[in-house]
Amino acid sequence: MTLQSFHNQEEKVFKIREKFNWLTEKIKHIPFLDLPIQFDFESVQKEAAKILKWAPNFIEPTYWDPESIQNHANKNQGRALIEYVPDSFFMHDTDHRLLKSMRSTNSYYNQFRSKEQYHSDGRIQFFKTELATELPQTTQLLYKISDYPMRCRIMKIQANCHVGWHTHHTDHLTNDFYDFAVAQLPLDCEETCLYSVRSNNSAYPQVYSRPARKGDLFVFNSYHQHNVVNTSNHDRIALFANYSFDYEPFLEFLAPYVRDYDGPLINC
Ligand SMILES: [Fe+2]
Repeated sequence: MTLQSFHNQEEKVFKIREKFNWLTEKIKHIPFLDLPIQFDFESVQKEAAKILKWAPNFIEPTYWDPESIQNHANKNQGRALIEYVPDSFFMHDTDHRLLKSMRSTNSYYNQFRSKEQYHSDGRIQFFKTELATELPQTTQLLYKISDYPMRCRIMKIQANCHVGWHTHHTDHLTNDFYDFAVAQLPLDCEETCLYSVRSNNSAYPQVYSRPARKGDLFVFNSYHQHNVVNTSNHDRIALFANYSFDYEPFLEFLAPYVRDYDGPLINC
């Protein structure tokens, strides 16, 4: 890709952001946005039940001590369905900063960056893993939401374990743009497993929670701090899928749901 075509692509993206500013600004404050689309939930559920081999889900090593990382990796596992590198059994949560910034000098990320490929319009290309081809109904659902799914996985949180409070937008004070949506679909869980969202910048944040209900497809707010607490004695298995707020067809898909949403809004 030449520098000129890169700049042209950037211009296009900024125009899309301007056109859909109302949407990205509103959805930022929506804790959970239901996506009531038709799909064959039972088939998706059955496909996930075929997964017997799980990989540890590591997290950003910068902020955690090695013991905590190991603990997290053991209790939170998953399998990649769609990744930005073709050979991706790995579950390293290399984080979205890789997609946002190509300037990192971190050698860990560089080994993956060298394998990245791009669409002709500048979007990072994502690849289906072998597992995705073995789970066709699940993959079909991912593409039904948008024909540009980014990183998608099936995730397992072990019984009586949790994913702690975190936000995917740590630079919300300097760069307020909400980059991508996280869709969740609980596949196997008890309703005592809870999804929660709270505001980023408040000493007394209000917490918005929702039980994990099988078959509920929704956008889980990842702009604000969120967590998943599985207090049940049952593993929680869920589909986790990322979609870009810079991709117009996805925004067109979301628009009616965001426009009609009249539930609680995160007050910050
Ligand atoms: Fe998250």
